[in-house]
Amino acid sequence: MNVSADRLKILPSILSAPFDRLGEAVCEIEKAGCGLLHVDVMDGHFVPNLTMGPLVIDSLRPACKSEFDVHLMVSNPAQVIPWFERERVRSITIHAETEPHLHVRLRQIKEGGRLAGISFNPGTPLDCLPLVADQVDIVLIMTVNPGFGGQTFIEPMRAKIRETVAIRERCGKDFIIQVDGGVNDKTVALIAQDGAEELVAGNAVFGASDPAEAYRKLDDLLKQNAKS
Ligand code: DX5
Ligand code: ZN
Repeated sequence: MNVSADRLKILPSILSAPFDRLGEAVCEIEKAGCGLLHVDVMDGHFVPNLTMGPLVIDSLRPACKSEFDVHLMVSNPAQVIPWFERERVRSITIHAETEPHLHVRLRQIKEGGRLAGISFNPGTPLDCLPLVADQVDIVLIMTVNPGFGGQTFIEPMRAKIRETVAIRERCGKDFIIQVDGGVNDKTVALIAQDGAEELVAGNAVFGASDPAEAYRKLDDLLKQNAKS
């Protein structure tokens, strides 16, 4: 499948943004072309960190124009999903490891009017993906173990990205392939060549001395190296 340019996106993760001036920090990267922000929701149970809830999105919405991509790292997605059915939330992604009733949960997200995503930790095989491919709009391949920004990209996950592309072809589906963890100016080209389309970047954007310039550089590298 040829990847069309409008599917290729860098999604800055606000986990790494300065929380004392979040609105301002987001506006800076919007000027560089960003329109979709990644929101990491961690419950201190499924992952060893506790982060943010829907109030952060509500506070940010008037201060920016972007849509939101919500990454739920929580043990109880059924309860949490409705909290994020909010204006300008484009997509909600759950973890395969947290949910015994995947079809039900993905349908819940879609019935709430959002794109439905499924995420796989680095150690989780993709076995169930063909079984739920009908319900899935986004597949998120974790390239670090979730919990913290600034970790190192796990290299063997490149084969898993390619396997996701192959499963998509075999199933005849069109879901978006996302990658999250350790995306930076060294890894972005490789991930793009493997076939990923939406690349989450926290530290590489907000940890840079010039976040807008860092966003622009990653976006260029993604577009130059995308699989065709
Ligand atoms: C990790 C989160 C990521 C994180 C990525 O648990 O899901 O979205 O913000 O951060 P970087 O890009 O710094 O690896
Ligand atoms: Zn994330």
